[in-house]
Amino acid sequence: MENLQIGGVSCRKLADEFGTPLNVYDENRIKYQARSAVSGFSSQQFDTEVVYASKAFSSAALFRMLGEEGIGFDVVSGGELYGVMKAGGDMSKVYFHGNNKSDEEISMALEAGVGYFVVDNVMEAGRLVEIAEKKQRETRALLRINPGISAHTHEYIMTAAPDSKFGIHIRDRKHIEEVIQKLSRSRYVKHSGFHSHIGSQIVEAESFEKALETMIGFLAELKADLGLDNMELSIGGGFGIRYLDTDKPVELGDMCARMIAAAERFTAEKNVSISKLITEPGRSMVGEAGYTVYTVGDMKTSGDKNYLFVDGGMSDNIRPALYDAEYTAVLADKADQTPEMTYCVAGKNCESGDVLIKQIRLPKAESGDLLVMKATGAYGYSMASNYNRLGRPAVVFAADGNSRLIIRRETYEDQYKLEV
Ligand code: LLP
Repeated sequence: MENLQIGGVSCRKLADEFGTPLNVYDENRIKYQARSAVSGFSSQQFDTEVVYASKAFSSAALFRMLGEEGIGFDVVSGGELYGVMKAGGDMSKVYFHGNNKSDEEISMALEAGVGYFVVDNVMEAGRLVEIAEKKQRETRALLRINPGISAHTHEYIMTAAPDSKFGIHIRDRKHIEEVIQKLSRSRYVKHSGFHSHIGSQIVEAESFEKALETMIGFLAELKADLGLDNMELSIGGGFGIRYLDTDKPVELGDMCARMIAAAERFTAEKNVSISKLITEPGRSMVGEAGYTVYTVGDMKTSGDKNYLFVDGGMSDNIRPALYDAEYTAVLADKADQTPEMTYCVAGKNCESGDVLIKQIRLPKAESGDLLVMKATGAYGYSMASNYNRLGRPAVVFAADGNSRLIIRRETYEDQYKLEV
């Protein structure tokens, strides 16, 4: 009987040792992604920086590993910033995002010495300048621009629609210049460039190349109109991953290399220079490296469906319910057997929409089998909840035949400890 391994450790062993549901990361896979991003995203013509979008999955063990690879961090809240600080991350490589940062968060980030604020709007620019003045703390700011590019992705994870809540639209010159003016008068906040992010789970490189062309064209306009040149440019994240065997995303390293080539080409064509190009992959850094190991419980037929119930569900992975996201899975002990049944994999949360996989062909399952869902490493744990008071799973890193617990399972006690 073949047993599926992750990082050289059998899923059965992982389940016995750490329990289920369990999030397992193949550590070497994350390292490979990190290294191919860093090596693909380098240029002779300008500086480059790869920044991990920590919203995809945040943990101190991961931050330390990525930090060692020279990667910076995108955070969108005081909570995410706190996590990077606790892990001893390099603050000069932190990019503080978010469309409604509180004064407390701005103060916290300035005190921590974050390298960059990604400013969303005019009011935020004003508050940032004021607080930095009061605290006499220096930082740099990129202004988030909505380039108005729409790529093929789910509406909830699409950010560059004309009426998006993020950034200032590229044609809204009045507000863009207002921000530039506010920042240019500051002694403490240096306006060093611009940022754009067009959406998430975008599998084709063309959308990103289009965004680069648009943003570099925009920089050329600002050079002509305002004399700004040699700015920093972040192109955000959003690189798609393989959830199903039929998905064909461009590999992260290749995607990064294509972005560099496009930036070099467009800056030459439009006669404008950039001092630094930044990218912020989240999902593509950790998504395919992550698996969720569930134990199969009861099974039943209801109408024309064969339900296979697992010991987790929408509380540890909201993506199928929220975005109609599709995943594939295998039975760990039967990975070499021929599929003979069609199952609907459902969780144990009290909601009809708590279905993880609507239809999947699997070998005949028995209670106690391990069902391993693939590519759950991004936006699974980070979007997990305690709905129905299910505790969040434990998280394990596995590599070269060894495994280590990086986040312990949430207990009942943990869940109720905030009550006063
Ligand atoms: N940079 C910015 C400014 C972003 O807003 C995001 C994602 C990223 C980088 C990283 O994007 P990634 O490389 O991970 O696609 N919860 C959704 C995804 C939301 C993404 C939000 N922003 C999901 O589960 O699909």
